[in-house]
Formats: sequence, C-alpha cells, structure tokens
Amino acid sequence: MKGTISACLLEMTDVRYGAAVSQTIVEASGLDEFKLRSPLSEIPDSDFMKLLGATLSTTKKSLEAIADEFGEFWCCTYAPRVYKSVVSTFKNSRDLLLGLDKVHVMMTKAYKNAHPPRFDYQWQSDNLLKVTYKSDRNMIDLYVGLARGVGKYFKERLVVRKVDDSTVTIQFFPA
Ligand code: HEM
Repeated sequence: MKGTISACLLEMTDVRYGAAVSQTIVEASGLDEFKLRSPLSEIPDSDFMKLLGATLSTTKKSLEAIADEFGEFWCCTYAPRVYKSVVSTFKNSRDLLLGLDKVHVMMTKAYKNAHPPRFDYQWQSDNLLKVTYKSDRNMIDLYVGLARGVGKYFKERLVVRKVDDSTVTIQFFPA
C-alpha cells in the first residue's frame, strides 16, 4: 500500500497524541520510520497492519476509535492539503463519497503500484446509500472512519454503519 496512508496515520498520532507517542508506535511496529512517513513509498500491507496494531496497543484505543480519528484527520487536514486539487472538486459529502471510486481509479493510474479499493453504490431510498467495498485488504473499518470524516469535512450529518465486511450504509440528512 502507498506510504501516504501510513504517513497520514503517523501525522495524526503526532498531532493528537504527541511526537513521543508516535515514536513509541514506530518502535513497537519494528518498522523504518522514514519509509512509513514517505507518501510515495511502497508499504507491504502486512507492515501497515503492524503499524495499525502498534497504534491500537500504544494508544489503548479500539480499531473503530482510531479509524474515526484517522478518517477525520485524513478528510479535514491531510487530504485537503496533499490532494487539494481532488478534494476541491467536490461540494458536499454525497458527491465526494459517490466520486471516490473514480478518485481511487485515478490514483491507480497516477501511481504505478497502487491498487486501491473499489466501490459499488446502490441507493436504498432517497437518503440511504449502500456501498459495497471491494478490496483484498479487508480494511472496511478504515472506510467507515473515512466516510464519517467526509461528513465532518463538509459539516454535514451522516450516519455510517458497517453491515458486514464488504457492506456499509450511509444515511444522509437533507440540510
Ligand atoms: C479524498 C481524497 C482521497 C484520495 C486522494 C485517496 C487515495 C488513496 C490512496 C492513494 C490509497 C492507497 C491505495 C494503494 O496504495 O493501493 C487509498 C486507500 C484507501 N482509501 Fe482512499 N483516498 C481518498 C479518500 C478516501 C475516502 C474519503 C475513503 C472512504 C470513505 C477512502 C477509502 C480508502 C480505503 C478504505 C483505503 C485503504 C486501502 C484498501 O482498503 O484497499 N479514501 N486512498
């Protein structure tokens, strides 16, 4: 997986927990900090899972809590800075969440070794979207936190629920 995900996770722990905690996390993971913090590096998925595991054990937070903190940081701080041209093309949560499949395909083209998640969308009613998450990585928990972060970025209320390991529902509330 691209180092952009691990770089963002460590930047989130720097900001929310302090640099010393990030240091403990990196040491507990046994991985090379420079590589983890380099957005264009190639991080084996198993190494990312080590970093995530070390983040949970060091902060003593649940996967859902860290996924929410990561998702908020990615959507409100990291992506608007690093992927400004992408984020600024969307006007609300609905458009961004529906546009994400295309965004990830675009990333696949831009970076040789990326193989990002793919998404299928099905409207259950006017305001209830069913998203099918397709990735061998089984990181749907990160998807849930990221989708909640999209709502925070646009200051819109969303209820995001994991149904199973490949399905999420997102309820939108009209302004
Ligand atoms: C807004 C700008 C975004 C950009 C530029 C972006 C780009 C990327 C990139 C480059 C990766 C690494 C893929 C790889 O190395 O194969 C990735 C992973 C991922 N992205 Fe995004 N992303 C964005 C937003 C989001 C949002 C808002 C969500 C969910 C609502 C999301 C869901 C995921 C998940 C779950 C992964 C982990 C990898 C996996 O599950 O296979 N992304 N993204």
